[in-house]
Amino acid sequence: GKAGHDHYMHKEIHEQPTALRQAISGRVDDLAGNASLNIDLDDGFLQTIDEIHIAACGTSYHAGLYAKELIEPLVDISVRVDLASEYEVYDGHNTQDTLVVAVTQSGETADTLSAIRRAKASGMTTFAVTNTVGSTITREVDDSLFIKAGPEIGVAATKTFVSQVTALALFATYLGRLRGTISADEGADILEDIRQLPSAVQAILDEEAQIRRLAAQYSDSKAFFFIGRGLAQPVALESALKLKEISYAHAEGFAAGELKHGPLALVTENTPVLAFLNQSAAPEETRNNVKEVESRGAPVIGLATDGADESFCKHTIDIPELGRLEPLVANVALQLFAYHVANEMGRPIDKPRNLAKSVTVG
Ligand code: F6R
Repeated sequence: GKAGHDHYMHKEIHEQPTALRQAISGRVDDLAGNASLNIDLDDGFLQTIDEIHIAACGTSYHAGLYAKELIEPLVDISVRVDLASEYEVYDGHNTQDTLVVAVTQSGETADTLSAIRRAKASGMTTFAVTNTVGSTITREVDDSLFIKAGPEIGVAATKTFVSQVTALALFATYLGRLRGTISADEGADILEDIRQLPSAVQAILDEEAQIRRLAAQYSDSKAFFFIGRGLAQPVALESALKLKEISYAHAEGFAAGELKHGPLALVTENTPVLAFLNQSAAPEETRNNVKEVESRGAPVIGLATDGADESFCKHTIDIPELGRLEPLVANVALQLFAYHVANEMGRPIDKPRNLAKSVTVG
């Protein structure tokens, strides 16, 4: 049942510290400064690959985009992230040295399954990051990494998004240690941030009352924009998706630097802008974008590293400092924001119109 919550989505948002502990448990090797993941893929293969392709849909695609921002600098390998429905392999592609990763909560998404089948048909090694043991995709790929989030019933993916990114952060650490791009000390630092995630997420959940007030204040806005760069850009996309699917409000996520290339034309005093100013996501440059929207009268809600002075924002939500994972923690604040906007509007939060939990048609 819903264990006293009005909606499964609310319950699942609050389950995130527990879900994360499950995702991390037994997977941190402190002595080695490494993740221990019991991966069956050959270490020799993982050492020599020169490209990773990630194929996924919706929220899982956003987890894939976050993984790219983690893996490329840490592992020094190029990562291509495609919407599964758009994933193509071209003749002449170096298939021997490519790992194809499907990110999928359900393991049943038709578009993702067919992307994996195209990859296999071209001779590529395939890997799934999923919540669902025994799912169709896990039976077709060469190996799987389970995110262990527990069942998710709300149509909107919440705990599985943070758990996917966490599993992919562990995988990035593993690859970096294996390939020698991350030292044992650096590995230990990343793992320490991963270990702090459950309590950082709890700190956001403890601020729900403030977030609910903001949601009530802005629930009748004309549109909502989310802006971020680097690690926060995928989170901007994800936060907009969450808000639009459960509230039916017009919400869009942009790379902060893209605002001036078009979307700025939509900004008015009736369009709140939620801006990621996290330390790990180039806050200086995003501050300039915030000033551009403020001068057009838009109310700005800044998601800012705890202790930073962001008094130029109309409102701020403090996010515990957590290196590369800080934007992931900020995402939890915006899950709550989306939930409370939708709740103010009286939407059927767990079963939004036209949507199904897993999309098994292509
Ligand atoms: C959004 C949402 C969808 C799914 C997408 C992929 O909240 O849940 O966008 O993320 O349909 O589903 P999976 O991860 O099961 O492949």
